[in-house]
Amino acid sequence: MKPDVLVNGMQMPHVMEALEKAYTLHKLFEAKDRAGFLKEISPRIRAIATGGHHGASAELIDALPNLEIISSVGVGTDAIDVPYAKKKGVIVCNTPDVLNDDVANLTIALLLAVTRKLVAYDRFVRDGRWEREGDPPLTRSIAGRKVGMLGMGRIGQVIAEKLKVFHCEIAYHTRTPRPELPYPHYADLVKLATDVSVLIAILPGGAATQKIVDRRVIDALGPEGILINVARGSVVDEEAMVASLQEGRLGGAGLDVFAAEPKVPAALFQMENVVLQPHQGSATIETRRAMGDLMLKNLAAHFAGEPLISPLF
Ligand code: NAP
Ligand code: 8YV
Repeated sequence: MKPDVLVNGMQMPHVMEALEKAYTLHKLFEAKDRAGFLKEISPRIRAIATGGHHGASAELIDALPNLEIISSVGVGTDAIDVPYAKKKGVIVCNTPDVLNDDVANLTIALLLAVTRKLVAYDRFVRDGRWEREGDPPLTRSIAGRKVGMLGMGRIGQVIAEKLKVFHCEIAYHTRTPRPELPYPHYADLVKLATDVSVLIAILPGGAATQKIVDRRVIDALGPEGILINVARGSVVDEEAMVASLQEGRLGGAGLDVFAAEPKVPAALFQMENVVLQPHQGSATIETRRAMGDLMLKNLAAHFAGEPLISPLF
């Protein structure tokens, strides 16, 4: 008999197809009466297939008395109540590493887009202003810049490695120093922000990192400083960031993530020193396919009684 699996948000077509084939699939996102649907199927559900946006709340975990595993597409697990799952003996798997390259590439693309005004000057050309007004003002180089990494895990290390090619100097802040890495560690984030001209946030969201980039950090970065956030919107005090950009206390920002996605503070839309992306870090066909495949492999390994590929604990 096929195991019963709950899927709580639309997945990529190849993932849906594979799930339909291997499991008795229950699509929570299609249910009109969510509570009624869950009540009817809950004792049979052994797994949740989810993603970084839908996650799995304590309420959902509680509604499924025979839940064994939550397998998620995405490395960030802030939308899953991981401590609660652990307490209930439910396994949690994510999809680390397979997305490192593409997330790092988008991070560097954002940094170059902000410093070289790629989006603003594209508009400048399209609007006919080049012909009417002549050359626009010069932009800024990233060569020789000191870049502060807030987070130096799997993705952070790939970003740092790639930034070497652009001749950037790297330093980082994490809770635990990594002496094996060739970069100086800062125990104090404000001190790091004071010493660098670019701060890249690439750490998990959640209670422990809520608004870790606050007004003090932003002020330390200063009017020439650039904030790149590819982590989670929750790690930045968004109101303080918008005010700092409006008042010229922060030089620019490249933002892939926001506090209340897909809502983005409208004030940012008018700013030429800000480049915005709709949470695209891992969103290439190749990487999303690899993430979907890894989520499926974890589920398959669990039901085959084989070792999991990327369990969280
Ligand atoms: P990882 O390997 O677990 O690395 C996380 C890093 O953050 C570690 O260096 C960790 O060091 C640091 N960190 C954790 N808590 C911290 C805290 N309170 N203060 C300072 N540093 C802290 O994770 P990863 O694979 O690199 O992914 C990082 C995050 O990127 C994900 O969790 C996700 O939120 C985000 N992400 C975004 C996208 C996107 O599409 N924009 C895509 C993928 C991932 P310590 O533990 O020593 O502090
Ligand atoms: C995805 C991400 O947007 O992996 C993460 O943590 O933020 C992204 O790769 C998302 O989680 C896919 O479900």
